[in-house]
Formats: sequence, C-alpha cells, structure tokens
Amino acid sequence: MTRTPLPAFYDDLDAAFAEAWRLLAEGAAQGRGGFHLPALATIGPDGAPRLRTVVLRAADPESGTLRFHCDRRSDKAAELGAKPACALAAYDAAAKVQIRVEGRATLHTDDAVAEAAWDGSRAMSRVCYGAEPGPGTALPAGGAYALPDETSAAATGRPNFAAVLVRAERLDFLYLDRRGHRRAAWDRREAGWHGAWRAP
Ligand SMILES: Cc1cc2nc3c(=O)[nH]c(=O)nc-3n(C[C@H](O)[C@H](O)[C@H](O)COP(=O)(O)O)c2cc1C
Repeated sequence: MTRTPLPAFYDDLDAAFAEAWRLLAEGAAQGRGGFHLPALATIGPDGAPRLRTVVLRAADPESGTLRFHCDRRSDKAAELGAKPACALAAYDAAAKVQIRVEGRATLHTDDAVAEAAWDGSRAMSRVCYGAEPGPGTALPAGGAYALPDETSAAATGRPNFAAVLVRAERLDFLYLDRRGHRRAAWDRREAGWHGAWRAP
C-alpha cells in the first residue's frame, strides 16, 4: 500500500511554525481556502464570547501580526476598542491543518496602516463601508438600507473603514493524519516565540 509521505514539518517544530505562518500568508493572498476566512472571536460588553467570519487580509511572520478589515461602526470594532484581546481560528481541509491565534488587536482608522489598507481595497469591497445605516442597526425591512455606488464609495466609505492588526501572542497548530496527529503551540516571550509539541 502506498502512503502519502509525511510532511516535512511532521516532527520538526520550527518547520511546523514556519508552515503555520506560510499557510496564513497564503490564505491572505489567495481568495480561497480555509485560512482566507477565519472566525474571529472577541469579548462582548457582557463578557460573553462573540464570533464571526472575517477575510484575512495579511499575515506577517516577521512581526507576527494578522490584518483584517471592518466597519468602525460594527460591534466587533467597539468590542475590540474596549477589550483588545481576541482570537482567530481556521481550518483548511486540503492542508488538514487547524490554526488558532490569540492576541491583541489595534484599530487603525486614520494612520498609514489604514491608508495603505484602504488604498489596497477593491472598489467592490469599499462599497460596504458606505452602507447606511451602519452594521447591526435594526431595520423595518430586510432591504431598508442603502449602499453607495462604486464611484462614490471611495469618499463615503473611508470614514467608516478600519484596518485591524492582531499582534499574535499565542499560536496553536494542529495537523491531522491517521498515522498520528501533530499539535504544537507557541507563545511569544521577550526573547521571541517559544514552542512545544502538545498532545493533540
Ligand atoms: C465570507 C464572509 C466574510 C466576511 N468578511 C468580513 C470582514 O472581512 N470584515 C467584517 O467586518 N465582516 C465580515 N463578514 C461579516 C461578519 O461575519 C459579520 O456578520 C458582520 O461583520 C457583523 O459582525 P459584528 O456585529 O460582530 O461586528 C464576513 C462574513 C462572511 C460570511
């Protein structure tokens, strides 16, 4: 019986860490795959968890940060503004890898990070930020909101746009394989990332 060779990171902790960041960066760059659409958890004002899907826009292994975008009028923006602790989780079925990241978020609305993110956004994506009323507002009917057209969205959407950087403080990696799963976790310390294998 032929067997798929084990991946190079299977018993190599450093390679597993590099693979986690490679998968995240690939997920951000490509518009498909599990790592393109992680779930983002925040802490609600009542202390209860809040969860939703976001598009991963960037993952930078050097700084250990992830970026996504949101409307500054949204609940998640308010929640992160009040309590920056957050977590992201994603699973890619082709890679058979789950990645969980815990960290702290900063909202960027008026600085170079926000400008670069807005400049890099497509007209189609900008339209959502010009929606009135803002996300989460109760409506008298499902369609009782307005979107700007793509040409005016550049002006109307920008004030509502936020780029969010998550500085990862902990990363948990799980690879599924019938020959034995592999799980590892790293936490960020003053000297850098410190990781160890974990029982899956
Ligand atoms: C495929 C998909 C991608 C999404 N991407 C984003 C995103 O990048 N940013 C965002 O704020 N909301 C995104 N959403 C919407 C959120 O999941 C959520 O419904 C909305 O932002 C309201 O969340 P909140 O009330 O917790 O702020 C996405 C939803 C789906 C289904």
